[in-house]
Formats: sequence, structure tokens, C-alpha cells
Amino acid sequence: MRGARSPRARICGQGQGIGMVTEEIQTYKQREDALILAHYYVPDEVQALADYVGDSYYLAKAAAKAQKRTVVFCGVRFMGESAKILNPASRVLLPAADADCPMAHMEKAAHIASLRANIRDLAVVCYINSDAKLKALSDVCVTSSNAVKIVSALPNRNILFIPDENLGSFVRAQVPHKNFFFSGGYCPVHAAVSPQDIAAARRAHPKAAVLMHPECVAEVRALADYVGSTAQIIAAARENSFDEFIVCTEPGVLYELKKACPAKTFYPVSPVCADMKKITPERVLACLREGSGEVSVPEDLAARARRPLERMLEMGG
Ligand code: 13P
Ligand code: SF4
Repeated sequence: MRGARSPRARICGQGQGIGMVTEEIQTYKQREDALILAHYYVPDEVQALADYVGDSYYLAKAAAKAQKRTVVFCGVRFMGESAKILNPASRVLLPAADADCPMAHMEKAAHIASLRANIRDLAVVCYINSDAKLKALSDVCVTSSNAVKIVSALPNRNILFIPDENLGSFVRAQVPHKNFFFSGGYCPVHAAVSPQDIAAARRAHPKAAVLMHPECVAEVRALADYVGSTAQIIAAARENSFDEFIVCTEPGVLYELKKACPAKTFYPVSPVCADMKKITPERVLACLREGSGEVSVPEDLAARARRPLERMLEMGG
């Protein structure tokens, strides 16, 4: 996580094309009173032009307190939706309006209703990687960096964790006194990594420690040295005495890892998230210039989805 830097410093060495696009973005940013937020998975050149780059929790907090007329969210739809719900006074623009997270829809309202009807003392805990309709049916939202803390603090004994069963099982292992139900959702990017991939990476890089995201499946997580959100992975690489790391999350995070630890070496093992890679500097410029990709959430839906998001901000610290 880091603050704003000089736009001129950013364009050095990136060629005239990207330099001109970056210059134009700065002009439109001022004209539109805009803040640019970016997730660690978007392309390097988009991270380089953002005001703030971070994990999902950091970005949700940054969006909630942004006092700007416009927030440009360089990420997938659920991120822009959460920003709009938390900050309805700002216009939220998605540079790639077609960038969606498949996991965000991997739960059904009927399943939630059925558990609510049949299980006493149940809390519905919704990973922020979910659409507004799922959030609206939930008691609290979480991200990968605060899920253990929030679930531990809930008074309820029974937890329906939606939609990501992998993050859910990671939380369950650390909150063993609670009873968990799942919806079977998963991230196709993280679930694509197999135990054989980790074994091969360890053989190729025997001195490296394995840093991993909790969206990976449980049998792969068992092979990691450290499991955490993208921001926690970056902090672990910075603080750890190892010089080499196998990185098991979307490889966009290597941009920040290399900046944070220039003397260390990183080996990615996960595939890319095609949706995150849809965001380009040209699309950032286009949405600022044309006001395209504006996120709109009907107010009755936003009001219901806002409660679990705000509860996350209260409980997450
Ligand atoms: P975090 O950055 O919160 O770890 O989230 C990872 C992710 O998959 C976002 O889509
Ligand atoms: Fe969704 Fe996975 Fe892409 Fe994150 S990396 S946006 S969870 S598909």
C-alpha cells in the first residue's frame, strides 16, 4: 500500500505512447476531480499511474473515505460496486466495465434462505468478492485480510461462508470452535494451482519460501510457508529473511513485490486473471474522458448491501 507519486517520475522510461496517455490521464483527473484506485492484479502500467494501490480491504476503505467527485476503480466489477455502495456521493467509473469476477456470483439466494430457515444462530459471512445481491443477503462482509478476525469476533456459532469455499476453509482452520457451511464457490485463477505445481516450483527453487493466497485449495495451501492476502504477502516478503520466494497468487502482485524488495527474487506459479488484465491505461483515459463505465446500484439494493460492508469496516479495524 502506498501513497501518490509524481506523474512525471512514473512515465520515465515507459516510452512516448504510454507517457502521453499518462499525461492526458493527469489532465482529465484534475478536470474530473478524480482519485484512481488500483488492485495489485491489474497490469503494471495501470498500477504505476494509480494514486493508491492495495488489497481489497485497503481499497474498500480508501473508496469509502474518498472525498472526490469521481473514483476510477481499476479492478473488477464487485470492487467498483462496493466502492459505490460505500461512497454513494462519488461517481465510480470502471475502466473495463466488462471485467467481472466469476466467483462473485457463485452462490444462490435460495441456498442462503434455506440455511437461514433451518440453522439457528447463523451468520452469513460474505467475501467481498461477491455481487451486491449476495452482499444484501448477508450479515457481514470480509476480505482475505480480515476474515479470521471478523469471523472470530462474531457472536454466532454457525457460519455460512459465501461464496469462496477455499477462503472459508482457511478461516475454519483458524476458528475451529465454530461450525461452517459453504456454497462451493472458488476463484478459477487460484484453484488452477495444483500440489504438483508447488512441488515442481520447490524443486526448481529449493531455497525459496512459498507465499500463497487463501483462495488456493486446501491441499495446496498445506504446502505453503505463509498464507495471506495480497498486501499480507507483500509484507511477509519484506519482513522475511529469505531472498527468494515462490509466489502463489495472481502474478500482478510481482510489480509491487519487486519494488518493495528489489534485492529479492520472485517466481510466480499462478495463471493471470484475464478480467483484471482488461484494465489498460488507454481504458483509464477513455473512462475519465467520456465518463463511461459508471457503476450504478439501485438505492434499495445498495442500502441492504451497505450494512454488511459497513459492519466489515467497523469490525475489521
Ligand atoms: P486481496 O487483494 O484482498 O488479497 O484479494 C485477492 C483477489 O482475488 C481480489 O480479486
Ligand atoms: Fe476473481 Fe480470482 Fe480474478 Fe480475483 S483473481 S478477480 S477472485 S477470478
